[in-house]
Amino acid sequence: MISATKAFAPAKINLTLHVTGQRDDGYHLLDSLVMFADRVGDRICVNPSDEISLTVSGPMAQCVPLDQRNLCWKAVELFGTTAAVHLEKHLPSEAGIGGGSSDAAAVLRALSSMTGRVVGFDTSLLGADVPVCCHANSARMSGIGEVIEPVAVPSLPVILINPRVSVPTPRVFQALDNKANAPMPEIPHFENAWGFVRWLSEQRNDLEPPAMAVQPVIAEVLSALAGCNADLVRMSGSGATCFGIFLDRDLHEVAAKELRAAHPEWWIQDTHLI
Ligand code: C5P
Repeated sequence: MISATKAFAPAKINLTLHVTGQRDDGYHLLDSLVMFADRVGDRICVNPSDEISLTVSGPMAQCVPLDQRNLCWKAVELFGTTAAVHLEKHLPSEAGIGGGSSDAAAVLRALSSMTGRVVGFDTSLLGADVPVCCHANSARMSGIGEVIEPVAVPSLPVILINPRVSVPTPRVFQALDNKANAPMPEIPHFENAWGFVRWLSEQRNDLEPPAMAVQPVIAEVLSALAGCNADLVRMSGSGATCFGIFLDRDLHEVAAKELRAAHPEWWIQDTHLI
């Protein structure tokens, strides 16, 4: 009997996100350094079935579509099979941390392992963030998201905060004034996390100002993280999730406690980017 196949869908964090141009079809050219969260993510379970089905549970299950609109469903269709997918949803949606894309990538990993077949289609058909989520390791992402270059960088202790407001990505891109910004320089070899953070502090997320215009609470999240003495604070993707890097282990722990106490209404995770 073939048993259930499980896969983890980690949160994707854009440590940098430089918007360097726009294609004729409206999609933006990006240059982004992406890492994935350790243990913060959704869980996928796939079972063989002669039709496609999707069920969802978990703390963030509310409002998740259970039909073809869900990227998990589309991933099964494009893989060219049928399966019963269960999604345990822990990540907020429309949050700039690739929840739906990471779910789709995890479904593809599970289907691959269940069937012994490789993914035989361009995964960017599922969305610009899906190729990097299939890679699921630190990478420099460019093009509109389809060009993936693995990078070796030190792991980072972070606190992730989403103020529980959803931010539609197209609205943020529309609100971006300058679409032709400088790309990242070459990513050097870092001796340690301090050097990495120093380099990151010279980079940007070009979507931060337009996302703040759409959801002003983002500024409050960034200032709460900075107020806890984070070494670097920035927004991920098109928001609203922000991250604070805390290289000091004690400070990391204390900040997570303080932020949870001060903002019980926010989604707050302390983890490592790996
Ligand atoms: O590809 P995905 O469905 O994730 O993109 C959602 C929306 O974000 C697109 O419809 C587009 O408006 C915007 N987008 C963009 N350039 C990218 C990625 C996304 O303009 N590279």
